[in-house]
Amino acid sequence: MGRLDGKVAIVTGGARGQGEAEVRLFAAEGAKVVVSDVRADLGQALADELGDSAAFFRHDVSQEEEWDAAVAFATERFGPPTVLVNNAGIAHGAPIAQHSLEDFERLVAVNQVGVFLGTKAVIAPMTAAGGGSIVNISSGAGLRATKYLIGYAATKYAVTGMTACAALELARHNIRVNSIHPGLVDTPMLGSNTPEMTAGMLKGTPLRRMGEPMEIARVALFLASDEASYMTGAHVPVDGGVTV
Ligand SMILES: NC(=O)c1ccc[n+]([C@@H]2O[C@H](COP(=O)([O-])OP(=O)(O)OC[C@H]3O[C@@H](n4cnc5c(N)ncnc54)[C@H](O)[C@@H]3O)[C@@H](O)[C@H]2O)c1
Repeated sequence: MGRLDGKVAIVTGGARGQGEAEVRLFAAEGAKVVVSDVRADLGQALADELGDSAAFFRHDVSQEEEWDAAVAFATERFGPPTVLVNNAGIAHGAPIAQHSLEDFERLVAVNQVGVFLGTKAVIAPMTAAGGGSIVNISSGAGLRATKYLIGYAATKYAVTGMTACAALELARHNIRVNSIHPGLVDTPMLGSNTPEMTAGMLKGTPLRRMGEPMEIARVALFLASDEASYMTGAHVPVDGGVTV
């Protein structure tokens, strides 16, 4: 028996990195998974590999009408979504004085507006299904200061706040909302860091190594599953001990 048997999940940014690990693990645990991403080549290939358990939907999380289409696609293909992992994200780092407004607004559109729209979009289907679980991928940068990440941190603190507000408001519909706060995880996103930034972050990591995408996915699996049935509004660091 799978830990997500009977669940229909949408994983945004599911084509690679942590999202890909979540898609693979959720499908292996019995969920039907919509792989949502702007990267159609990778997303389609992943869904094809997983066969009947997964379907790809090209989806820009910053666009409201595309959320309606994504939920309709999931519902038609597998049934109303009962799990949403708001994982899609982009990174950008710069000293404040050099951080352009354009980059700031790009971060807000994907990392912040995307989570807001996703949360809105699944309330009706999850309520109709008797409940659901929303897992927001924030960051360590959504819990404490990180040098040169003012724009990224603004959006990740926003995700922390939206997680708390949504948990409070949606509990009456039996919709649980929790956030994961990864530390340094070995994904293509780290390509936007300078080697010095990555080395500095590793120095502050008690376990002295990066996390693997599957180490985040396993926590997302727990929060998505009924095993976490009394857990909502939690901000869970998965960061090799940085938070201590
Ligand atoms: N890698 C890390 O060290 C780290 C640390 C903390 C938090 N995070 C967060 O984890 C999440 C996953 O990141 P990752 O490390 O797997 O990075 P990644 O770059 O490998 O994956 C991000 C995915 O999001 C997709 N995406 C980007 N913009 C999108 C949009 N507008 N609509 C839909 N999809 C979009 C990308 O195509 C990509 O597939 C992000 O929210 C990121 O901020 C990452």
